Amino acid sequence: MAVSSAPGKVYLFGEHAVVYGEPAVPCAIEVRARVGVEQRSDNKLRIHSEDLSLDGFTVEYAGSADERPDVDVSESLLTAAMGYVDGAIEQVRDVTGDDDVGFDVTIESDIPLGAGLGSSAAVAVAAIDAGTRELGTTLEIDELAERAYQTEYDVQGGQASRADTFCSATGGAVRVEGDDCRSLEAPDLPIVIGFDGGAGDTGELVAGVRGLREEYEFAADTVESIGDIVRNGEQALAEGNIEELGRLMNFNHGLLSALGVSSRSLDSMVWAARDAGANGAKLTGAGGGGCIVALDESDEAETALSYTPGCKDTFRAELADTGVRRVE
Ligand code: PMV
Repeated sequence: MAVSSAPGKVYLFGEHAVVYGEPAVPCAIEVRARVGVEQRSDNKLRIHSEDLSLDGFTVEYAGSADERPDVDVSESLLTAAMGYVDGAIEQVRDVTGDDDVGFDVTIESDIPLGAGLGSSAAVAVAAIDAGTRELGTTLEIDELAERAYQTEYDVQGGQASRADTFCSATGGAVRVEGDDCRSLEAPDLPIVIGFDGGAGDTGELVAGVRGLREEYEFAADTVESIGDIVRNGEQALAEGNIEELGRLMNFNHGLLSALGVSSRSLDSMVWAARDAGANGAKLTGAGGGGCIVALDESDEAETALSYTPGCKDTFRAELADTGVRRVE
């Protein structure tokens, strides 16, 4: 058996706008998905996962991807999670040229599903890496990132940026603009996460922004303004200017909110963190529900979040310098 892990991420800046060619800056964090892959003697795919979330969803699943497991998790989320594993295994088969190889796949994840922390990208990266290694091939990081992107692209019906998968494969803070992906120097960031226990529908949220952008010029301008925030953010990151990063994150959240992708619980958590003295706070990922990211050196934001109605979990996250990790 080969086991690989890959980290989740937060968007410091640029989600949604990245879909329209603007740059984005995600940053890998030390919450991981670990995937074990073992070759079978037949051509079946068996997926077993006891925990695909920090809180709430426990998935016990064994069978082919089209069987429906009896679990307490929304069907669309679970189908999506299983879809990423299927897609990743297709990539493994493509690399090795063996279409008939079967696998037992075991997933353990500390990353909540669909909550803006890049769970699907981490699962795809770790599964492709472990699957190819199980068959004797170790992929270069760039190819691994590209194949994980292809998995997300296929599963999400052509709506995906390279941001999540590149960040999860390489670790650290990265800059993604179209197909140009590169690593950035980043200071140690005092990252605090708030999680509302829910999840947004990425496809629906992306479609909503697309519609607004087509209907109103000012919505298209808003998307472009997010790109300007990202460019300023890169500068602040290079200077290690946490105060400026926080201000820009606040601005970014305001524009995402204007584009209709925030929610009451995300806004409550953002305001709780700001009121507690955080340098800044914003939603991360597609929005609609899920997680916010705040920058706060003290414990105040985390404490305030733990008392905030609508916040189910809060924790401090270290920046993950390493992306994919070859565990065994
Ligand atoms: O919620 P997440 O982590 O899947 O992030 C979605 C980010 C979007 O920009 C909205 C879509 C994308 O593929 O970049």
